[in-house]
Amino acid sequence: MTASVLELRHFAREDLPQIRQTLIGVHNEVYAAEMDDEFNQKFPWFVDHWGGRPGFSCVIAYDSDDRPAGFAYGAPAESGREWWREHLTSEPKKTRTFAFSELMVREKWRKTGAAERLHRELMDAQDADLAVLLVDVTHPKVQALYESWGYRKVGERQPFPDSPLFAVMLANLPLT
Ligand SMILES: CC(C)(COP(=O)(O)OP(=O)(O)OC[C@H]1O[C@@H](n2cnc3c(N)ncnc32)[C@H](O)[C@@H]1OP(=O)(O)O)[C@@H](O)C(=O)NCCC(=O)NCCS
Repeated sequence: MTASVLELRHFAREDLPQIRQTLIGVHNEVYAAEMDDEFNQKFPWFVDHWGGRPGFSCVIAYDSDDRPAGFAYGAPAESGREWWREHLTSEPKKTRTFAFSELMVREKWRKTGAAERLHRELMDAQDADLAVLLVDVTHPKVQALYESWGYRKVGERQPFPDSPLFAVMLANLPLT
């Protein structure tokens, strides 16, 4: 299995009605064993929240049978109100930020390069100086994966009382 056979397609805010069920379907499969977690049950709310934001940008990978293999999405952070600022002592000179919200790949497509392709495709399409993401602190291997893609941990954050504790990670764009 190699990710090079996957076709990557871009979607924007106006495409949300078309892709909503695909995103939810992949999520429910990937998190099937953890769907008793109320945070995971809220995924459709998050899809609508992110998908409704100005500049929403989503890349979905499709296999040769047109089945989704995984996806990545996010949206630009509101200028001047980037929440990562509180984690830095000195602010970067350029601050236009793309908030990278979700990345997930179906089991069959793990360790094939699909996740990295999705991430790069999404980031290469952004006109921003920084990418920010949150990763569950109990998933150090995922954090290490992001570090290998150019991110650095700048702090920790729990955005909702029922959400996990997350590491806050920043990367410079464009990716090298
Ligand atoms: C994150 C993801 C896209 C990376 O795909 P990939 O580049 O093919 O890499 P892998 O799946 O091999 O993941 C890298 C390592 O992180 C671990 N990992 C991945 N997702 C994990 C999770 N949700 N919880 C704990 N560990 C996880 C993997 O087991 C793997 O460890 P290993 O090297 O010991 O096998 C994919 O693992 C995935 O879809 N995970 C579930 C959703 C998720 O966690 N998304 C990230 C949210 S920040």
